[in-house]
Amino acid sequence: MDAVEMNAMVAAAAAGSAALAAPWARARLALSRAKHPSLAGHARMARRVARLLPYYEHTGDRFFAVDGAPADVVQRRREGFDRLAARLAERAPRTVAMTRELTEGLSDLRFTGAYRVPFPFSRHVAAHLPTGVCAGEATDTTVTDLDGNEAFDLSGSYGLNVFGYRFYRDCIDTGVAYVRDLGPVLGPYHPVVADNVAKLREISGLDEVSFHMSGTEAVMQAVRLARYHTGRSHHVQFTGAYHGWWDGVQPGVGNPRRTRDVYMLRDMDELTLRVLERRRDVACVLVNPLQALHPNASAPGDASLVGARKVTSADRATYAAWLGKLREVCTRRDIPLILDEVFLGFRLARGGAQEYFGVKADLVTYGKTLGGGLPVGVLCGTRRLMKRYRDDRPSDVCFARGTFNSHPYVMGAMHAFLDRIDDPARRASYATLDAVWQARLARMNAALAAHDLPIRMAGLASIWTVCYDVASRYNWMLQFYLRTQGLALSWVGTGRLIFSHVLSDADFAAIVERVVAAALAMREDGWWWADPTAPGGAGRQLLREVVAAWAGSIHSPRRT
Ligand SMILES: Cc1ncc(COP(=O)(O)O)c(C=O)c1O
Repeated sequence: MDAVEMNAMVAAAAAGSAALAAPWARARLALSRAKHPSLAGHARMARRVARLLPYYEHTGDRFFAVDGAPADVVQRRREGFDRLAARLAERAPRTVAMTRELTEGLSDLRFTGAYRVPFPFSRHVAAHLPTGVCAGEATDTTVTDLDGNEAFDLSGSYGLNVFGYRFYRDCIDTGVAYVRDLGPVLGPYHPVVADNVAKLREISGLDEVSFHMSGTEAVMQAVRLARYHTGRSHHVQFTGAYHGWWDGVQPGVGNPRRTRDVYMLRDMDELTLRVLERRRDVACVLVNPLQALHPNASAPGDASLVGARKVTSADRATYAAWLGKLREVCTRRDIPLILDEVFLGFRLARGGAQEYFGVKADLVTYGKTLGGGLPVGVLCGTRRLMKRYRDDRPSDVCFARGTFNSHPYVMGAMHAFLDRIDDPARRASYATLDAVWQARLARMNAALAAHDLPIRMAGLASIWTVCYDVASRYNWMLQFYLRTQGLALSWVGTGRLIFSHVLSDADFAAIVERVVAAALAMREDGWWWADPTAPGGAGRQLLREVVAAWAGSIHSPRRT
């Protein structure tokens, strides 16, 4: 074979493999295009960037002047900070002392304490602005700390508190009474389980139910079953969506394992539909409908608040239309659609997000409020998808059991919950939910606008986020001003406010007043000063800081 023949052969082989590779390359390209352009949309890159970020901190004078504020503003901030520190310490000495003691040995607290505000500020804040996280009493919508300070509860117990804490106390008491004669006997089912299964089948419109111990577990089981029945390798979820702490649904930062079987795609985007239309390896599509509030962005939290926070309020009709399109493509391609309603189920409607957005899923997860105050995760699904074995291959099973599944006490409290949500007044309250909460949102925003404050709220029904118009490096300070006004927040601070539906108009009016008072004090203390001429604003400043920390010219002690 001479050189000319050889070249011709190589060219022919290359053309052949290019032809073979073309569909693969096209599919790969379509997948890349369907990833959200942000870092959150690129899990692997986000993990690499996260590993490169050095620890550094702002202490002393720099704490108050990272944005180059003039001396008079820095002085106001310093005085304001000292006032806050004194108020927080004087207000709740027992609560703060107990929190400090707990922090020694409770890993959860060590973690949340370190990530309450952006990390460069965290140590100084933890040392001087004590946040007490212990409580001794609660009413429907308030919690009281160990020093007797009653605060409106805007944390909503991570979403559990839809109907007021007394409602859940009552569900637990009633539930315990239902099953007292059996007690914690695991294995046999108490008769209340039959009622729960029947009710959940009716509410979800699905054939079967399985009980788990947390929302995370219910999601694990949903995805595992979808893989088992489709024989496909990957699941699709949307950028920023939270589905619990299982590493199978956390492809990005926060998960030490590299998860290779997740396609994290753009929410509300035709490019994603194209991927679903063509790929053959998609086992299921997993949707957290709370993303309607901030599509393609992670849940807002103060630890990552480094400038403005712009969130658009949820548009129910647009998101419903998107879910409808997803439903269509999933049906056409025989891809199970999973609606993760752990957060929203029973908050938006009796029939949950399926009813609220008018979509029918193949698998639905519930949790939080459904346990009537006790821990739970629930999966409902079609008979075909819920089956954990194959008739023709006896050892090919999809194993899922758990010691505490269907725990009698949890089943009792759930039974009381499911009974009580059918109370006519409670059922009727869902019909006015949107109107009530949109009016409250408008009222809150009007009060903030009336004082020309640079914040406003965005929300999906009773789940709100504080948005900041000013790209200040200190927006997260608002959480401490809110606390001193008697407003209790969860560890994500102003990122998530969760209201109970039994909050009265009078109490809501008091909350508006307190938010306005907190924001006025924060403005007075100079935290919203911003240099309008600063090129690139807060983002550029932050980048400069990180580079300086790398170069060693910024204080970078070891974190303890
Ligand atoms: C949508 C969603 N899925 C799953 C989970 C995890 O539930 P759990 O914390 O009970 O494990 C959560 C928790 O916030 C959630 O909001």
